[in-house]
Amino acid sequence: MPSTATSLVRASTIADARAEVRRLRDGGATIAFVPTMGALHAGHTSLVTVARSLSDAIVMSIFVNPLQFGPSEDFSRYPRPISDDDRIADEAGVDLLFRPSIREMYPDSSTVRVTGGSVAGKWEGAARPGHFDGVLTVVAKLFNIIQPDVAVFGQKDLQQACLVKALVRDLDFRLAIEVAPTIREQDGLALSSRNRYLDPDERTRARVLSRALNATKAAFAAGERRLGALEQAGNPILRQARGVECDYFAVVNAVNFEREDPVAEGFAAIVAARVGSTRLIDNVILRSDDRD
Ligand code: PAJ
Repeated sequence: MPSTATSLVRASTIADARAEVRRLRDGGATIAFVPTMGALHAGHTSLVTVARSLSDAIVMSIFVNPLQFGPSEDFSRYPRPISDDDRIADEAGVDLLFRPSIREMYPDSSTVRVTGGSVAGKWEGAARPGHFDGVLTVVAKLFNIIQPDVAVFGQKDLQQACLVKALVRDLDFRLAIEVAPTIREQDGLALSSRNRYLDPDERTRARVLSRALNATKAAFAAGERRLGALEQAGNPILRQARGVECDYFAVVNAVNFEREDPVAEGFAAIVAARVGSTRLIDNVILRSDDRD
């Protein structure tokens, strides 16, 4: 049975999650879904706020999905602050928290995988082979389990959001995808569950990602449209930073993730870099009226 210690209902099995969703639906509620891997922060809760504005009931999932981690990545050390997450989800107004086990999601019989096509092989996909197939497989499963009216994703993971939209379009899922803005620390660093890996010195150095993105954003707002010049506005800031190893810094069409020249309104500057042993990603959308 789903447990109801607070107003937050928790479910760890697919059957219990479905039963609770059915109960919400029977009461006439529309349902918004916020999938996460936990270690919740204000970026995640901002998605809940957006979800609340779009529907009556909110379902959040917390599942550290082994399928989207490479063999040398941080799956085993990924933070799992279970009771903090419970409290944050409850305070944020989540109605149902679905936290399945790995066996529940991937029993031994599980073999079918969703693959993302060409966008899934670029940038994050090139740096992390198989990552997006793992993301799309778990998101497809979660969509089928919860069957929400809308699901909310963060712009922070822009390529992921783009691929989830393609998943919904190409496999005819019946839900809307909403993409919510990136929540940042005061100095510009995008909130991320992985920021807690950073020591104080690395935390200071990590600011360079948003500084580089903002330099490119400012150049676009000032009228620059040449691809090379826009990348050159931000790239050296990142390359010259001590203790920061740039994986990629590029300006891309936010639909196909290709570098296209000239750059147009709505393209994105995207970055991935390693600060110490922590790999961080971030992006900004380029807009001509955005001068700050
Ligand atoms: P996770 O990294 O936990 O992120 C869950 C959601 O929160 C994603 O949609 C992500 O883009 C969003 N998010 C993260 N940081 C944010 C920030 N600073 N501002 C706004 N939104 C932010 O992304 C995943 O989990 C997984 O890949 C998942 C989709 C759950 C599939 O396993």
